[in-house]
Amino acid sequence: MAKKIKTIGVMTGGGDCPGLNAVIRAVAKTAITEHNLNVVGIHDGFLGLIENNLTPLSYDDVSGILTRGGTILGSSNKANPNKFAVEVNGVKKFKNVSRQCVKHAKDAGIEAIVCIGGDGTMSGAAGMVKHGLDFIGVPKTIDNDLWGTDVTFGFDTAVTTATEAVDKIHTTAASHSRVMIVEVMGRYAGWIALHAGVAGGADIILMPEMPYQLDKICKYIEQRKAYGRNYTIIVAAEGAKCKGGQMVVHKVDKFSPDPIRLGGVANKIAADIEAAAGIDCRATVLGHVQRGGMPSPHDRTLATVFGHFALEQLVAGKRNRVVVMKNNELTTVALSQVANKVRTVPKNYRLVKAAKAVGTSFGI
Ligand code: F6P
Repeated sequence: MAKKIKTIGVMTGGGDCPGLNAVIRAVAKTAITEHNLNVVGIHDGFLGLIENNLTPLSYDDVSGILTRGGTILGSSNKANPNKFAVEVNGVKKFKNVSRQCVKHAKDAGIEAIVCIGGDGTMSGAAGMVKHGLDFIGVPKTIDNDLWGTDVTFGFDTAVTTATEAVDKIHTTAASHSRVMIVEVMGRYAGWIALHAGVAGGADIILMPEMPYQLDKICKYIEQRKAYGRNYTIIVAAEGAKCKGGQMVVHKVDKFSPDPIRLGGVANKIAADIEAAAGIDCRATVLGHVQRGGMPSPHDRTLATVFGHFALEQLVAGKRNRVVVMKNNELTTVALSQVANKVRTVPKNYRLVKAAKAVGTSFGI
């Protein structure tokens, strides 16, 4: 029989994504109505634990938030307790502040935390387990790149937003007989590019898992012209790179636990195609619009089952596991297994095969 708990914490870490509030709502409502637990909201991801910024959450606090984008608790993708940037005598350095976080949580009576986040958040949580704080993770990210789960919530909404953008780009591309390149997010994985590219009928999809060759892209555009197709739509993941080349880095924040920010590959590809083949190209970078707005119905329901399942796991005495969806079944994997890993698109992924079969090029 699992030891009965009285108080849990809930937090959202890393970049925001649609559906975070739906998880917070499911966790807190299940905890309050079905198990009579106290729920403490941790503000701004791990920063709330570092700075002791914690507040009790009531049923009313989590009502009316199902459809709201972002997170009512706030988030941070810079506050990893294992590697937190502090200023000592005017010099910035990393410090492990995990013990301080555990103390703040325990002082607030928190026995375990539902942490909603991606691989960075899971690695922050894993570092605190050895100091005596327990977690249940819920996988979030628009990138869909969390190891151990077939799907993360937030991904479906991001794909919908990106697909709508590709649909709109089509009309301008056709009217002006242009090559239009749409850059989507995804970090080191091509999930958003692949799904939005196929859904939006892109002619070429470029992703980090399949480094492209510029001459293959130019040849494909020329072939299309020969068949009377006067325009070409390219969907490029921000992590796309040419064969033998590097990803395009937008900026490096050396005091962030994950210092690299990708961005700019669409402009690079546009310039390279123009230089190599004299074809008029335009680049559109979708950026953070993919993380914003209301969650799709799919993400609202996925977030609700993830949140409910996470709470049920806690009550059943499970600790330091991450809720995952595997072959359409909810289950859990060890937190330590998920931390710091990336799930990329497999080369033999069914959608890649289907896209190739309907004539989509991957620039390879
Ligand atoms: O992980 C989500 C994500 O939006 C990535 O797709 C993107 O590379 C990154 O976060 C952007 O981070 P930031 O919001 O710090 O610019």
